[in-house]
Amino acid sequence: MRTTDLIIKKRNGYSLTKEEIEFLVHNFTQGNIPDYQMAAFCMAVYFRGMDMEETTNLTLAMVNSGETIDLTAIKGTIVDKHSTGGVADTTTLVLAPLVAAAGVPVAKMSGRGLGHTGGTIDKLESIPGFHTILSKEAFIEQVNKIGVAVVGQSGALVPADKKIYALRDVTGTVDSIPLIASSIMSKKIAAGAQAIVLDVKTGSGAFMKDTEEAFRLAETMVGIGTRAGRETVAIISDMNEPLGSAIGNALEVQEAIEVLQGKVSGPLRELSLGLGSYMILAAGKAKDFAEAKGILTGLLEERRALAKMKELIEAQHGNPEVLENLTLLPQARGKLIVKAWAEGYLAEIDAQALGLAAMVLGAGRETKDAAIDLAVGLKVHGRRGDYFKLDQPLLTLYYNEEKRMAEAMKYVREAFTFSPSKVEKNPLIYGVVTKKGRESYNGLL
Ligand code: URA
Ligand code: CA
Repeated sequence: MRTTDLIIKKRNGYSLTKEEIEFLVHNFTQGNIPDYQMAAFCMAVYFRGMDMEETTNLTLAMVNSGETIDLTAIKGTIVDKHSTGGVADTTTLVLAPLVAAAGVPVAKMSGRGLGHTGGTIDKLESIPGFHTILSKEAFIEQVNKIGVAVVGQSGALVPADKKIYALRDVTGTVDSIPLIASSIMSKKIAAGAQAIVLDVKTGSGAFMKDTEEAFRLAETMVGIGTRAGRETVAIISDMNEPLGSAIGNALEVQEAIEVLQGKVSGPLRELSLGLGSYMILAAGKAKDFAEAKGILTGLLEERRALAKMKELIEAQHGNPEVLENLTLLPQARGKLIVKAWAEGYLAEIDAQALGLAAMVLGAGRETKDAAIDLAVGLKVHGRRGDYFKLDQPLLTLYYNEEKRMAEAMKYVREAFTFSPSKVEKNPLIYGVVTKKGRESYNGLL
């Protein structure tokens, strides 16, 4: 087999066989195929696409490029959740204790944040003492004991994805549906997921700006999961504005805790209930969506998910007193309330611009190894469609370094648009994709 022939075959629009795809992935990971040939191949895929069989074969070849995690020692079905990347999206911190409280084991491996979206591991580290590194044995033991563990991702999973993504990032081939879908699904499968619930974001703050494209990405990922023997469901959710109101590590932990305490409702709680319902359905703990949602709503209302959060924090050496005293989380020295500089309906709240504002305050990393400030960030005091009077508090900035404020304010100013005429609220969920196809979301919102 010659790499050149495979590039030409894809360039001419033909489908590659399983053996051909395995040859490419294996030899590229081993360093036998140079970057320029893999880059050319990715560009051919960008223009020609891949059918479902090729995309599944690509995913499985990537899974086999490195270590995989065997979670069969855990009792029950391991259902993993993945979001394609949101701002003020801390559903994982709500879902992990909530789903575990429903009796479904949560063995979660999460990443750190990069750029304007936050990472679960960074957020958890804002809980004083919380350990995010566990041995594989301790991880499995903890899940079997209390039903939940959340740890940092191992570097050895899917080395092919690391190498291919680095190339795509600099060759204009990131936004190809088969390449995105195989990248995401290979990591979920390698991490031991037995069923997968996906949150595919659409809108100005998402990877997929266009809703139809988001549905297509969801269909491709559900197709891969189904062919790979993992029950997979995707929710298509809105990212035209931030999901919750807080952006920043400790601030997002606080908001998640407030959802578990029953003090915060709204889209973060709703989406968590929607995703969680599909998770417990996939694990066979409910007969239909309505029953699943009823179970989870009850667990929230009875504070059983909050009690599970306490167990999780204790098991990973964090200070559980944060649940009663949120000021034990890292606190920023400075606080600035920004008032509405115009009057009218909020027509736009640009999630990406607000994510960047939080990042320049120190909440996010510009490069992979940069240090972050867990205390800083911002809170938005309204949603799209809300009416604001002049000088009404619009958002609060939490900062430690005054010198970063000017740049943060530049993004804040860009993020909001006011309109004199009434603005429709965005739907939170646009639909669901299951192995049977597209379905409307009947989550009783
Ligand atoms: N997220 C991933 O993990 N991979 C992609 O290709 C895009 C987003
Ligand atoms: Ca996130």
